[in-house]
Amino acid sequence: MKDIYCLAIESSCDETSMSIIKNGVEEIETVVVTQIDIHKRFGGVVPEIASRNHVISVTMVLDELLTKANMIIDDIDIIGVTYGPGLIGSLLVGVECAKTIALVTGKPLVPVHHIAGHIYANNLKKRLEFPLIALVVSGGHTDLVYMKEDYSFERIGSTLDDAVGEAYDKVAKILGLDYPGGPIVDKLAHMGTDTYELPYPLNDASYNFSFSGIKSAVVNLVHNEKQRGNDIRVNDLCTSFQNRVVGVLVKKTRRAIREHNVKNFVVAGGVAANSFLRESLEKMAKEENIGITFPEVKYCTDNGAMIGAAAYYAYKKGIVSDLKLNAMAIDSLYSGTKSNV
Ligand code: KG4
Ligand code: ZN
Repeated sequence: MKDIYCLAIESSCDETSMSIIKNGVEEIETVVVTQIDIHKRFGGVVPEIASRNHVISVTMVLDELLTKANMIIDDIDIIGVTYGPGLIGSLLVGVECAKTIALVTGKPLVPVHHIAGHIYANNLKKRLEFPLIALVVSGGHTDLVYMKEDYSFERIGSTLDDAVGEAYDKVAKILGLDYPGGPIVDKLAHMGTDTYELPYPLNDASYNFSFSGIKSAVVNLVHNEKQRGNDIRVNDLCTSFQNRVVGVLVKKTRRAIREHNVKNFVVAGGVAANSFLRESLEKMAKEENIGITFPEVKYCTDNGAMIGAAAYYAYKKGIVSDLKLNAMAIDSLYSGTKSNV
């Protein structure tokens, strides 16, 4: 069978990234330009600034990618692009770039749902085995997904309010920590003890999540302590917060695995880089005697490689778009699985 080289483009938030992926499994080359330092002083991503910086980076990233891969655009077979969800201005830059390349080359344009990309980051490490449960934990999503085969997504649970990464970032902000807060809270949590009383987030019988309650509890606690003139034990608060968040993620994932009788489990999204979550899920997988895969840490946060891995399987399912493809800020999982979106 002929090899398929995918040029993949990801620009849904504050990373301009492109990658060339062979047959959905082999990374040829990836370039990531992150805007973290630009947005840091605002304590979060400013959408207008993000889209402007994507415009500045996009052609340079493409040039650098092809040069590093020692390839020309004619060597590419398909063009994969994140069409949503994400920041609309940011998405548009990637989608317009992909459409232009598709127009000029006549190569198929494959729209990829951002979360499908996060899940397929695991395919670059180890070929996905089905059926599986995926736990998606990012700055914008917290989903439990059942996959019976390639590029088939059934969402069985989701967050009712804040995503887990968002909760990490907001807790970090109230504690005066840098952006993005997730990795910093993760680090400080290892140096503290679980001494603060915080609620367990939506500790019920559903597969859904809710993180706004625990986030508000942290915000209130910090305000109350400040008003009383008390110091916050930042490391202890990070430990207490992280223990409860990871506790509920592990508990609900374990139940999803048992009730869907799967032998394979993958973790995806930026929060999959969290060391305590990794440790705890690995322990759970051992106890349940199932296979577990995490993406490499560099492919947990947004990147083009994961989009290239997903695009290959989307293409094999006949998911190809014409040049009317539009970016979508909000798109439920996983309507991008329809053809001609
Ligand atoms: O997947 P991603 O790059 O962007 C979205 O698609 O949303 O995830 C970014 C999120 C941020 O909220 C960031 O704080 C969080 O992932 N994150 C972490 C860690 N590394 C990144 N959260 C907890 N622990 C980490 N080590
Ligand atoms: Zn993401």
